[in-house]
Amino acid sequence: MQNFEQIKQNFFNQLSTANSLEKLEELRVNFLGKKGVMNDLMLDLKNLTVEEKKHFGANINQLKTNITNELQTKKEQLELIDLNAKLQTEKLDLTAPARQENQGSIHPISQTIDEIKNIFGKLGFEIVDGPEIEDDFHNFSALNIPEHHPARQMQDTFYLPENDGKNMLLRTHTSSVQIRKMLGQKPPLKIISLGKVYRSDSDQTHTPMFHQIEALVIDKNINMGNLKWTIEKFLQEFFEVQNLETRFRPSFFPFTEPSCELDIGFSKKDGRIKIGSNENFLEILGCGMVHPQVLINVGIDPKEYQGFAFGIGIERLAMLKYGINDLRMFFEGDIRFLKHYGFKNND
Ligand code: PHE
Repeated sequence: MQNFEQIKQNFFNQLSTANSLEKLEELRVNFLGKKGVMNDLMLDLKNLTVEEKKHFGANINQLKTNITNELQTKKEQLELIDLNAKLQTEKLDLTAPARQENQGSIHPISQTIDEIKNIFGKLGFEIVDGPEIEDDFHNFSALNIPEHHPARQMQDTFYLPENDGKNMLLRTHTSSVQIRKMLGQKPPLKIISLGKVYRSDSDQTHTPMFHQIEALVIDKNINMGNLKWTIEKFLQEFFEVQNLETRFRPSFFPFTEPSCELDIGFSKKDGRIKIGSNENFLEILGCGMVHPQVLINVGIDPKEYQGFAFGIGIERLAMLKYGINDLRMFFEGDIRFLKHYGFKNND
């Protein structure tokens, strides 16, 4: 029978040179495995007397515990060394440029918004933001649409629970932002407000959320000529056409008087719409001179100041410019749509 001290010595010698987790595992199997040193010792027990067994058995158990603990401690040390080595070598540089094939793309709506902001920026318009959760006053009453007025039915509104005694809703147009601006700042004003608007409507040409841009100019001596020039200038720049054809049709909006709808001329080639022709016309926006009552509602004297306003759906602009046929595709988040219609970062 081997002597305990020898076994112990032998174990510690091997332990000190076991410098990898694999080596350590080998050592564990050699000493604690089924055919290992410690099991051999147990087999020797059967040849001993009862008294000897007691003494010998206790020593074996103690040595076993000792070896197990030593192996565990060494294992933890080696694991830590391994982890540190990995941390040193497996670095992820988050500032490295993305690979071409993994790069995201800019959604056509974002691209269109950038283009719109650019054009109006050059024309000297200020871009104004406002809340999407609005109260009845800013979205309706101040815009000359009192409660129970039939014009409210023109916009299928999502109403929200009352807040602070006010009727709340999701804004149905960005005209609400214009009201906020006129209440907060004296004219002259030359602003565009753009962003998400909400209407309870859904089919091939309507989605419950869409984007809108509205322009508002308030100054002295503003007339329909200013309105016409600004809209046509914008559309020419946006569609990059010189031969833009427009048709102003009389219409009705409670907040403008007179009110118009604007159609633009287009031709169709191979199923694609081409702006800049007088073959066909399609409606593109609503506009008009700001109703004197709206000016009074925000504390502006209509005898001194006049204004014009117009509002356009951004999806509609994007569809016409980039040949996208179904409005709903914008919001389905289908990666194939983005691959096809998305814009690269530097486009
Ligand atoms: N606010 C109108 C709408 O959302 C659009 C519009 C704006 C019409 C300004 C005329 C003048 O339908």
